[in-house]
Amino acid sequence: DYDMQEKIDYVFKVVVIGDSAVGKTQILSRFAKNEFCFDSKSTIGVEFQTRTVTINEKVIKAQIWDTAGQERYRAVTSAYYRGALGAMLVYDITKRQSFDHVARWVEELRSHADSSIVIMLVGNKADLVDLRMVPTEDAVEFAEDQGLFFSETSALSGDNVESAFLKLLEEIN
Ligand code: GTP
Repeated sequence: DYDMQEKIDYVFKVVVIGDSAVGKTQILSRFAKNEFCFDSKSTIGVEFQTRTVTINEKVIKAQIWDTAGQERYRAVTSAYYRGALGAMLVYDITKRQSFDHVARWVEELRSHADSSIVIMLVGNKADLVDLRMVPTEDAVEFAEDQGLFFSETSALSGDNVESAFLKLLEEIN
């Protein structure tokens, strides 16, 4: 709405990264539009969505970029990371491989993004409790070791999606 736009104090660019099919697009849609789409297609190229929130009395417009996890669809890496102040690094708690690849994504961030970028590690699909392959403790340990924030989310139920984004935005400054 127009009133809000006039009062924006900051625009923060945030990137969402992680393997294909971990739920990057759905987490973003949940945060930006409070929507979940059951037959979501793999992202091709780069898309972004925005949401304006108030944190510590400042109006912050989050511009959140989403790209394909699949290498062949990925846009130019340096352009994607340029100016990003925050990153959501997503894996799927039911796919061990997506967690095993998190270290590689951190390396990519460290080599292409600003060194002060705030990183939130996100274990998504937490609603699929019976299919869990990644213990929470493994992720907590990795996150502590690498200096990342951590949360487990469900884009499907909406659990922790809002709080994970708000925490990330709060830590950017
Ligand atoms: P790429 O664009 O290929 O990189 O994939 P992505 O990481 O953006 O994954 P996407 O958001 O398209 O979701 C992949 C699949 O997982 C879809 O079938 C979603 O419906 C499903 N999914 C996403 N989040 C959740 C979740 O929290 N719980 C469950 N049960 N399914 C989810």
